[in-house]
Amino acid sequence: AKRMPKVKGLDQTLTVLKEGYEFIPNRTRKLNTNVFEIRILGGKKAVVISGKEAAELFYDNDKTERAGTLPKRLVKTLFGKGAIHTTTGDKHKNRKSLFMSLMTDNNLEYLRKLTRNYWFEDTARLQAMDQTNVYQEATLVLLKIGFRFADVPFDTPERMEQYAKDMNAMVDSFGSIGTAYTGYRRALNARDRVEDYLEKQIIATRKGKLFPEEGSGLYEFSHWKDMNGKHMDSRLAAVDLMNTIRPLVAINRFISFGVLAMHEYPGERARVAQNDNSYAYKFAQEVRRYYPFVPFLPGKAKQNITFEGYKIDKDTMLILDIFGTLHSESLWENAEQFYPERFENWDGSPFDLIPQGGGDYYTNHRCAGEWMTIIIMEETMKYFAREIQYDVPPQDFTVDRTKLPGQINSGMIIENIRNNFDRR
Ligand code: HEM
Repeated sequence: AKRMPKVKGLDQTLTVLKEGYEFIPNRTRKLNTNVFEIRILGGKKAVVISGKEAAELFYDNDKTERAGTLPKRLVKTLFGKGAIHTTTGDKHKNRKSLFMSLMTDNNLEYLRKLTRNYWFEDTARLQAMDQTNVYQEATLVLLKIGFRFADVPFDTPERMEQYAKDMNAMVDSFGSIGTAYTGYRRALNARDRVEDYLEKQIIATRKGKLFPEEGSGLYEFSHWKDMNGKHMDSRLAAVDLMNTIRPLVAINRFISFGVLAMHEYPGERARVAQNDNSYAYKFAQEVRRYYPFVPFLPGKAKQNITFEGYKIDKDTMLILDIFGTLHSESLWENAEQFYPERFENWDGSPFDLIPQGGGDYYTNHRCAGEWMTIIIMEETMKYFAREIQYDVPPQDFTVDRTKLPGQINSGMIIENIRNNFDRR
């Protein structure tokens, strides 16, 4: 076997945190390789793999194990104790079928309607604001869409605002990749608050005091029985119900990036505004490909494996390069250009467009909410392109790729928002 390229040094964790999304691409380019070895998280050996073949390996359940590879702190803040993300084998497939059972055509159509309606309804609020931070406003609108889709009753307006902030605190915690950081305590408190509220709704549903609609998350997570015929523990049900709402709120990131793209790239806003949905679809896909969100994912070799002629020993940590794969010149022509039309002839491969993981929805850990994300993006972008007019004041539009998590420095500010039709 060939000798694997290595990054020198005892531990690269701090360098990863310093270079952010560019850490892996910087090295795959310099070493001219799709695979290299590093040491991270306390000097542990890890093999970084990048590209479409890497994703195929990573989502081969015989070769790659995912369970037990997420940093413990990250499980506590981002996903929750016992979350589906941490399960494996039959237990994972069984629980995943619950998540996927929510993704019927009818339910997704309902989500589309909710998205359209909540944004449309929000126009009055936007008109009354001096300036709107799109990222922040989207957080609250998405929380309402998420609760309503799950048929979770709204709490008081103050608490809804609090939960919206809480969701961001949990999502932001991935920027620490599980190391010590100042927001840890805050993210734990945020999680407790939202889990408490959701667990109460689950208990009330089970006691017959609350009647969510069949097909909603609250109904299905409350009543679902696993392969052993058991209901989920109420706290665990709350954790995984939240795993359908928190990531939905995280679409605030793609929304602010999308509004930025419509501002920065000539003609995009007008094309998204077209009647036909097909451009909005391509635009949503390109936003998910182009802008930085998930940097990489951890796993470990389940057996001795070979990748591109290199040997990887059983139990070696594997790191799948997400951001670099989405920006690979060999997979995406002019990868650094924002170009939605590239999706006109895309073959739909499960291994190249992997901003939300790859492989199969039912048997791999691929994101259960990918279709939801695309629908919410399509409808939200059409809202910003067609339903309202606004001005974009000077601000710092920088998206710093060395900072995790990815965000627009200004948050994306718009002002002078008005209805986009003539009522006379
Ligand atoms: C898993 C990203 C939205 C629910 C994942 C994974 C990623 C991801 C990277 C892990 C893939 C892997 O480990 O192989 C995102 C991004 C989103 C998003 C960037 C948009 C902001 C959503 C939404 C839902 C959702 C709207 C709502 C249902 C889940 C669940 C899992 C998951 C339940 C765990 C699946 C499993 O372990 O089998 N997501 N996601 N996500 N996502 Fe999303």
